[in-house]
Parts: sequence; C-alpha cells; structure tokens
Amino acid sequence: MADDTRVDDDAPSEGNPFAAMDPEMAAHPQPLFAALRDSVPVMPVEGVGVGVVVTRRAEIEEIFRDPATFSSNMSAVDLKNVRPLIPLQIDPPDHKKYRKILDPVFAPREMALIAEPVTALANELIDQFIDRDGIDFAREFSVPFPSLVFLTLLGLPLDELPRFIEMKDGIIRPDQVTGTPYGSDTTNEYQRKTAESIYEYFEEVLDEREADRRTDLLSRFLEIEVEGQKLARTEILDICFLFLIAGLDTVTATLDCMFAYLAQHPTQRRRLVDDPALIPAAVEEMLRWETPVLGVARVATRETTLAGCPIHAGDQVSIILSSANTDPTEFAAPDDVDFDRQPNRHLAFGGGVHRCLGSHLARQELRIALREWHRRIPDYSVAPGHTLVYTPAIRSIDHFPMVFNRRVDQ
Ligand code: HEM
Repeated sequence: MADDTRVDDDAPSEGNPFAAMDPEMAAHPQPLFAALRDSVPVMPVEGVGVGVVVTRRAEIEEIFRDPATFSSNMSAVDLKNVRPLIPLQIDPPDHKKYRKILDPVFAPREMALIAEPVTALANELIDQFIDRDGIDFAREFSVPFPSLVFLTLLGLPLDELPRFIEMKDGIIRPDQVTGTPYGSDTTNEYQRKTAESIYEYFEEVLDEREADRRTDLLSRFLEIEVEGQKLARTEILDICFLFLIAGLDTVTATLDCMFAYLAQHPTQRRRLVDDPALIPAAVEEMLRWETPVLGVARVATRETTLAGCPIHAGDQVSIILSSANTDPTEFAAPDDVDFDRQPNRHLAFGGGVHRCLGSHLARQELRIALREWHRRIPDYSVAPGHTLVYTPAIRSIDHFPMVFNRRVDQ
C-alpha cells in the first residue's frame, strides 16, 4: 500500500489511536470495522506514531502467531512504567517462564475457590441500592466490584478502594482526571507521578507481607520460584503494576457494555432471568459482540508485509479485536447477538502468547455479577432520555444512570 494513503489524525490523542473516536462510533464500532475490513484491512496511519491499523481476522491471527516480528515490548504502549510490565511487555522466550508460574495461580480450578467471596461482594454492593429506584451503574457497581475483588485476592483492606481507583485511573485515564488531552505534558506528568506512587504503594505492602506471610496473592508471589529462583522484588512490582492496569478497568468496561446491552434488549435479558444456566454462553457472546477491549498494540521489529502492505521496523501495529470478532470468515451472521452461538472463538481476551492471563478470573466475576444481579434485579433500563457515552479503546461508560423497573427482594 502506498504511503499517500496514510490517514493524518492531528487530534491531541498521541498514544491512543482511538481517543478521537466519534461517540456514536465508540458506542457502535462494528460498521466502521466492517467497512475497513472490506476496503483497507491493513490501513497505514500517522499522527499517533507511524503504523498500521489491522482489521481482518486472518492478519490478526498472523500477528498473534509471530511475536518475534510483532513485539509487545515497552514501545508498543507507553504507560510511564520504568521497567517492562510482566508478562505483558516481555517477549518470548522470557515471557514463557513468567506465564509458567502465573498461569496456575489464575487457573479455573483456583478461580472456582473464590466463587463464594466474589458472590458475597456482589451481593453486598447490591444490598446498598436494591431498595432504591435506580443507580449510577458505573459509580455504584461496575467500578467498585472488580477493585473489591482484587483487594480481596491481594489480601488488602477493602477501605483501600478509593486509593486503588485513583492509581489505576491516573495511568489509564489521566485525560479524564486532569481534564487535558491524552498525550499532553500534563497527562504525561500525571501518569509519571501515578506510576511512582504505584511502585511505592506495592513496595510498602510487600514489606508488610515479608514480615507477615498469609495465604493471599502477594504472599504467594513472595514464595513462588522461576527456574529455581524466587522472583526479585522488582519483578513482583512489575507484575502488581500490570494487574492494576489490566485487571480492573477491563472488567468494569465489560460490565458496562453487558448491562447496557441487556438494559436495551429486554427479550435477551428475560432469557437470562428465566434460565441462569445460559449466563456463561451469554457472557462469551456479549464479550464477542461488545469487545470491551477494542484493540491491542504491537511494534514491528523488522521489515515485513501484511496483506501486501509494507510494515517497517518500529511501526506501531494496532490490532482491532472488535473487528476480528465480527469478521464473517469466522462467525456466521456476525451482527446477530446469539446466546446459543457454537462455537464462539472470539478474541475479546486477545490471542497468541499474550492472551489474557486473567480470563478465568474475569469470567468468574462476570458470571457471578450477572447471576446475582438478575436474580435480584431482573428488570431495569437506561434512565429515560439519557444517551450512554462509551469511552474509546476500553469501552466503559463513565456515567450510566439506570432505573429499576421491578424488584424482587431477597
Ligand atoms: C473481561 C475482562 C478482561 C478483558 C476483556 C481482558 C482483555 C485482555 C486482552 C485483550 C489482553 C491481551 C493484551 C495484548 O495482547 O496486548 C489481556 C492480557 C492480560 N490480561 Fe486481561 N482482560 C480482562 C481481565 C483481566 C483480569 C481480571 C486480569 C487480572 C489478572 C487480567 C490480566 C491480564 C494480564 C496479566 C495480561 C497480560 C498477559 C500476557 O502478556 O501474557 N485481565 N487481557
């Protein structure tokens, strides 16, 4: 593809190719990606760093199969961390040794063990508002729920919630916190300061755990060994930093997307209320359709081509998972949200070696949240007259007024 097709995007959105996305597009991105798949499946772009946007399933799978060419190193995404986040910004072969120790910690069997406390946390939140006529879903449920689960897993006090939220927002959404454009000096500085505070926070907590071992995740990190050696303090910090970035907003955004969909599709919602056994399949199908983490980033390590488009060493590669999840070469009737879809090989958790480490934890949280919520609050809708606004890239809905139409008290 010739260089003159490069799209110039001079919006103040450096570092986030989707920050300038039109709100209508952020709410319903699928038609845009269908058009790109059919016209420029590998689209050169400038303005957010030179690179390409990849929308077809075939090329996306090709990228995931070749992490040596399409690296996840620190220049793929700049989060102002001072060392690579583990395991996200580590390429093979070192990546494997970390997944070997972390995968068992987040395996389905381990996640089944936390079903009871996660169910209790969901119900404690619901208890706080079930007697009211409605809530702001984001503020009162989708934001606190994953952070509370995480605090529980790490063995930290639940009253650390505001601090946790402040730290992850300072890295992921410094534009919203500071009211200045993403990529500006102000947001860069804010992210840098937040990053420092995250390292300091976990340093302190790890000091405490060194002195007083327990059964929580942090204590486990102090014990586990990689190739016969304990993890270094810096390695544990780099894992904790990533968890804060990867494990909270993603679940919040997924809850926002799913509850917004169900609030606006009462027939589909009724199916879940009547038959909770359908929830696991519905979670997968809504993950596919909504793809709350719209895309992931890589950086090319050498000259290559994708679908005939030249890629140069150092080019940014934006992989549109949302597009892979509605590609008709993989999914029949991709625009139908079909809770009975089988098979459902969606890429909402990414693909290849960096496929989401926390997918079983996420599934556990989502299934429990949907089950407990619909058991207790089966009928709800978006507050009349309100238009939901989705954030770009990670599709959360910061302000989600919801009204309860009928309540079943437990
Ligand atoms: C529904 C919620 C979630 C979604 C949609 C999601 C999505 C993703 C995606 C798309 C990736 C791939 C990133 C890439 O290829 O660059 C990823 C990686 C990752 N996720 Fe998640 N995630 C979710 C929840 C979680 C949770 C709860 C955790 C907590 C442990 C977590 C931890 C991670 C980690 C550590 C990685 C990096 C894995 C690696 O590089 O080997 N995620 N996630």
